[in-house]
Amino acid sequence: MDEVYKCTKCDWSISIERYIWRCPRCNAPIQIISDKHLEISLKDLKLGRGINGFISILPKLIRMSPISLGEGSTAIVLREVLGVKILFKLEYLNPTGSFKDRGSATTISAALSTGITRVIEDSSGNAGLSIACYASAAGISSRIYAPIDAPRGKIELMKLFGADIKLMPTRNEAARAAILDKEGIYVGHRWNPYAIEGVKIEAYELIMQQDQIPTAIIVPTASGMHILGLYKGFKELIERGDIREMPRFYAVQHEDYSPLAIKLGRKDYLKRESPQTIVNGLRLTDVPRIGEIVNVIKRSEGDVVLVNDHDVVQALKVLIHMGFVVEPTSATAYAALNKLINDGIVEKGETVVIPLTGSGLKMTKKLIDVLPK
Ligand SMILES: Cc1ncc(COP(=O)(O)O)c(C=O)c1O
Ligand SMILES: [Zn+2]
Repeated sequence: MDEVYKCTKCDWSISIERYIWRCPRCNAPIQIISDKHLEISLKDLKLGRGINGFISILPKLIRMSPISLGEGSTAIVLREVLGVKILFKLEYLNPTGSFKDRGSATTISAALSTGITRVIEDSSGNAGLSIACYASAAGISSRIYAPIDAPRGKIELMKLFGADIKLMPTRNEAARAAILDKEGIYVGHRWNPYAIEGVKIEAYELIMQQDQIPTAIIVPTASGMHILGLYKGFKELIERGDIREMPRFYAVQHEDYSPLAIKLGRKDYLKRESPQTIVNGLRLTDVPRIGEIVNVIKRSEGDVVLVNDHDVVQALKVLIHMGFVVEPTSATAYAALNKLINDGIVEKGETVVIPLTGSGLKMTKKLIDVLPK
């Protein structure tokens, strides 16, 4: 089968030749459709070599000129809480300290192979830093739109990579401005299908690195790049026959920023553009792929779980105490697990994946400010 881009809404589809990020006919998000994953056995995929170890199941434009900084193959640490086995996937150990590096490796590879010389991204901080880093490594220039209150550590590192940084009043305004910028090619992870391709590898690793088959996965969710990538990876593993059942996907959002809860009819939408939440990675409400995220939740029989700052501080405290140096946004998943166990939705004997999405090392001052001494 040819590798194609396919619209998520209309019936537009085209063979992959150049970089495209949305449907030219109806402007909806697009997906990459391929059956490369059916052509190879798991033992031919190699851990520890960044995207190069999985190159044969990645789309054509990535295979043509892969740029890798050793992303992925992050450690899994097994812990048990109240009879539930937790697989902590240490995504904060990626090159710039977040899972976003998986998507930047694939996105910048695709950009490089199509001769793109300047990329534009919008971000709460981590994705922008990650794109700035991979673009620098590939000799591509980058412009990053971020909210004015993005963590300083992330902004300073973006500057080191030579990114042109535009600070906007809110996360949503950063998203809107980036799309209108025509001085480069938009690679924003809210839209770009290559980000999802990079993350799907994380699902393969979860199966290849250890023997437990997860029953549930809890993912802090904003743009949906992470949850959609993991779902795609598990879907491919099922199609290949490596696993039989889809784990339940729980998307975690902040009480004040939950487009998913609104979409699922669980809450009236409270649009607050910039409250002082510590969960700064989840302040996005303009989510082009929201329909796809809802499908993942419904098809996997999962749900959306809402948390507030108080829940997150408690969870963060426990995680730091356990030795995981993560940022508040990542702690939302552990806060959600506590709720799911208390509500009897996650039961004893289950195996639950918690990807620890971002490093606390980029915002140590914030950690010291918010954690009870
Ligand atoms: C640390 C961290 N976790 C989770 C997310 C949300 O991920 P996604 O946008 O893929 O839904 C972000 C987004 O910026 C993040 O920075
Ligand atoms: Zn379309």
